[in-house]
Amino acid sequence: MTRILDVQELVAGYEPGLSIVKGASIHADEGEIVVILGPNGAGKSSLIKAIAGLVPVTGGQVLLDGVPITATPAHLMVRRGLAFVPQTENIFPLLTVQENLAVAGGILPRATVPARIDEMFGMFPDLARQRRLLAGSLSGGQRQMLAVARALIVHPRVLMLDEPSAGLSPKFVEMVFARLGEIRRAGLTIVLVEQNARAALAIGDRAYVLAEGREAHEGPAATLWNDPVIAELYLGHRKAS
Ligand SMILES: Nc1ncnc2c1ncn2[C@@H]1O[C@H](COP(=O)(O)OP(=O)(O)OP(=O)(O)O)[C@@H](O)[C@H]1O
Ligand SMILES: [Mg+2]
Repeated sequence: MTRILDVQELVAGYEPGLSIVKGASIHADEGEIVVILGPNGAGKSSLIKAIAGLVPVTGGQVLLDGVPITATPAHLMVRRGLAFVPQTENIFPLLTVQENLAVAGGILPRATVPARIDEMFGMFPDLARQRRLLAGSLSGGQRQMLAVARALIVHPRVLMLDEPSAGLSPKFVEMVFARLGEIRRAGLTIVLVEQNARAALAIGDRAYVLAEGREAHEGPAATLWNDPVIAELYLGHRKAS
């Protein structure tokens, strides 16, 4: 199996001398959905932001398909094949759905953009119907879909998402996760940070539990959900014994 994303002993933080990510090692193989869980403040967002080039890295490295991409400026990451959907502010609310996609596709050869936007509309029929609406008028779930479509439009190898289910009603959580499952089946590798451990582990292949800036546990998604110690410590539910 091809190791697409390989994060080795990554150290990163927002201020000099204060590491938040403390030697984290995670990887994702081709076509995997890898879930990152952990308590609030564990450093989940900081870790994926550091991988995406948004938090200064002071140690370790990130390989994409064997090529070092450590600390590549965030705007160049998509050209290397790594797309990141942040938790908030991941769309332009005052642009239409179609304009949001056109802006995101800006690094593609200009002549190919309209066809690629149509491909995105084929993948996300809801967005196609609302292409002329302002993105700010979409529902929460549709906004997340637009954010995902914006990330996918440039053909990334790896899609990283920070809590795509945050603030969504159960129906939309189900829709977003079902769509991520489909995207994976189309060949993408996904790294998913989630508070919603149950939904994430249900579609995930493998999961890490992060604690204090590094991975504390790793295992198949199904096993992790059923491990009573981990469930109580990190996943926010108590396993009935
Ligand atoms: N922009 C920032 N500047 C300085 N410190 C930050 C910044 N963002 C996060 N931190 C600190 O980094 C630590 C880890 O935060 P992070 O957001 O990565 O955790 P998390 O696991 O994503 O938590 P949550 O589950 O609440 O989203 C926290 O102590 C937080 O205060
Ligand atoms: Mg976070």
